[in-house]
Amino acid sequence: DPELVAAGENVFKKCKACHKVGEGAKNGTGPMLNGIIGHPAGAVEGFKYSSGLQDAAAGGLVWDQAAMTQFLTKPRDFIKGTKMSFVGLKDQEDIDAVIAYLSTFE
Ligand code: HEM
Repeated sequence: DPELVAAGENVFKKCKACHKVGEGAKNGTGPMLNGIIGHPAGAVEGFKYSSGLQDAAAGGLVWDQAAMTQFLTKPRDFIKGTKMSFVGLKDQEDIDAVIAYLSTFE
């Protein structure tokens, strides 16, 4: 859905200070997010994750739609000890949109 992707590009402005996507995207405050949807958590090369996120990854966490939704709603509730200092997204529509946008980057 191109409209959802476009809406998600707009929502991603809230993430951009810390996360990059697209060709040549590098890690910054947060890991680069190419290919993140459907992929195992805590696996971006060269990024130093919090122990909370490393524990979740060791437990088999995969960033599917459901996990992303829970994480983006309240990051610190979903991953205890995460170093992602972001309050979360209130609107389910914004969450669906940003997931659709992220899904376009392999
Ligand atoms: C981790 C998405 C906003 C900093 C992550 C991860 C995702 C994500 C999916 C896990 C990556 C992985 O497992 O490899 C998003 C989205 C955002 C957002 C979609 C906006 C809606 C932010 C902001 C910051 C930030 C604004 C900085 C203020 C981080 C950090 C981590 C992280 C530091 C690593 C967490 C840890 O190791 O506990 N983010 N993020 N993120 N993000 Fe964000």
